[in-house]
Amino acid sequence: MIVLKTDAEIDAMRAAGALSAEILDKVEDLIKPGITTLDIDVFVHEYTIRNGGIPAPLNYRGFPKSVCTSINEVVCHGIPSSKVKLKEGDIINVDVTSIIDGYFGDTSRMYFVGSNILPVARKLTEVARSCLFRGIKQVKPGARVGDIGHAIQSYAEKQGFSVVREFVGHGIGRTFHEDPQIAHYGQPGKGTKLVEGMVFTIEPMVNQGHWKTKVLKDGWTAITIDGGLSAQWEHTLAIKSTGEVVILTESAKEISTRPVV
Ligand code: MF3
Ligand code: CO
Ligand code: CO
Repeated sequence: MIVLKTDAEIDAMRAAGALSAEILDKVEDLIKPGITTLDIDVFVHEYTIRNGGIPAPLNYRGFPKSVCTSINEVVCHGIPSSKVKLKEGDIINVDVTSIIDGYFGDTSRMYFVGSNILPVARKLTEVARSCLFRGIKQVKPGARVGDIGHAIQSYAEKQGFSVVREFVGHGIGRTFHEDPQIAHYGQPGKGTKLVEGMVFTIEPMVNQGHWKTKVLKDGWTAITIDGGLSAQWEHTLAIKSTGEVVILTESAKEISTRPVV
């Protein structure tokens, strides 16, 4: 069941989206070799609370921390830990979801640790971001979920990478994950029709090697099956009653570097 939102409800979702985006702006200044993923968690937790939000991941289906931190071959849902230090050359996804006034705003970005980044890691990160915006470009009333998936999959594969199948984007609102599911692969013209009032995420995970993933014994951490790198970017989007598409989780800083696709 898809919960459509009024324009007033979409406006009410802006606060959560803006806080999540602001947190990711601030996380950029924190990322350097030697910090731990727990340092990122503590920052996200405290900044969220200090600004009137609730960190949605904390205790969500038993997730133990306030943010997901996914390094290199970790595809998603990495659990922050005092034992995991960022090192020169790592690529890391930080996935923040804040709740304000009962509404969720979900967004993630990639960061480079230090400046000594492998060319393939840079390319993968850029391709994943471009995939997100190619997906966003498909969003309009009357389009289909398959149009989004196809735009993402065809570009990622043309660049020599693969698209994760096991995790998808999702409707979002007063709950973290709602219908519809937004697969990042698919066929044009297929799948659920997009209509005014839909609010959902697009969050492609793009792998260097095979698309398959496996979940570690902690029950959360998803890694690539072949140990190759993985990159992900995520936004929360809304389709207003006018048909206008708005990105609820894009900061001014991020708009200024938005890729042209
Ligand atoms: N933010 C993730 C998403 O994009 C979900 C994380 S669930 C958690 O859907 F429990 F791991 F936080
Ligand atoms: Co999401
Ligand atoms: Co997310």
